[in-house]
Amino acid sequence: MKIIGTGSSLPKKVVTNDMLSEFLDTSDEWIVPRTGIHSRHVISDEEIWELGADAARKALEMAGKKPEDIDYFICSNVVTEYMTPGLSCVISSMIGLSCPCIDINCACPGFIFALDIAETHFKAGAVKNVLIVCAEEPTRMTSWQDRSTCVLFGDGAGAVVLTEGCNIKGIKLHSEPDPTKIWQKRRLMPTPYITKEEEDVPLQMKGREVFRFAVQASTTQVEALLGEIGMDKSEVSYYMVHQANLRIINAIKQYLGEPDEKFPTNIADHGNSSSASCTILLDECNRKGMFKEGDVLVFSAFGAGLLSGAAVVEW
Ligand code: UT7
Repeated sequence: MKIIGTGSSLPKKVVTNDMLSEFLDTSDEWIVPRTGIHSRHVISDEEIWELGADAARKALEMAGKKPEDIDYFICSNVVTEYMTPGLSCVISSMIGLSCPCIDINCACPGFIFALDIAETHFKAGAVKNVLIVCAEEPTRMTSWQDRSTCVLFGDGAGAVVLTEGCNIKGIKLHSEPDPTKIWQKRRLMPTPYITKEEEDVPLQMKGREVFRFAVQASTTQVEALLGEIGMDKSEVSYYMVHQANLRIINAIKQYLGEPDEKFPTNIADHGNSSSASCTILLDECNRKGMFKEGDVLVFSAFGAGLLSGAAVVEW
């Protein structure tokens, strides 16, 4: 398969670090050196499905495809107000898709897990065109009284349209299941039979452990994947790394011994938008005209699960 269209959409509200320090015991001086984040786009009166639909329309337009050309739609999302139907159905109804659609919840590496599902369908000869939308509102998962989590996140949606081709050179997925490292819980509807205590818990994260996992999983997977497909790092044009923390990206860069210019970032004014992060970065770089045919893009993302994934894509 081959990427032929990208799109993204961001909430209009921009929240700077100084705005956070008006109601939170934090500061620009703490946030910037530890994360690289200066500001983030935060959902206010938009709906996440509006951003997802907007990103999808832009990707379809760039790809020169109509909704009826799409054979399969995968939506990556962690939380939305809709418990059912899936966000994929809500976005489908907005953009006029009638093909099968599924939601996946693989947290930050969701885009790479979605690529893997799409590739399986292409290899089976079951599809000609696939749409992926990663639409996330992690700012609705955190407590805005918890300075250790809410400063890190931003919202948004990114989309890609894929068609037939041989441009996915390899995908590697990894799982270290442990729901105590990053988690959030919601209370479900009560019934006469539920006697156990249930509560709404905002996002909890063991930051340092997740940091270590991110750097280790990313570097190990990228090196292993390049080795498996017989590609040297010198052939890689860009590393499209999940925008969770600039220090994580710098540690990966240092470990791989690759230069700054191969690591585009947008974390400074986006924060961590979970699975949308890689797709928003991809669209922004693409629309700047950074990629030329034959360029090799290495995607790497990691997060709750713990899950991580890497993919090597030829442009
Ligand atoms: O998408 C994937 C999921 N998440 C990640 O990839 C995140 C990975 N982890 C990280 O990025 C980093 O661990 C953080 C940015 C979350 C935290 O950085 P850290 O250097 O590991 O800081 P820390 O959690 O060890 O906290 C150090 C201190 C603590 O104070 P004490 O206990 O030493 O007195 C915190 O209470 O900094 C304090 N602190 C803050 N202070 C001001 C934590 N958050 C803040 C804040 N402002 N926003």
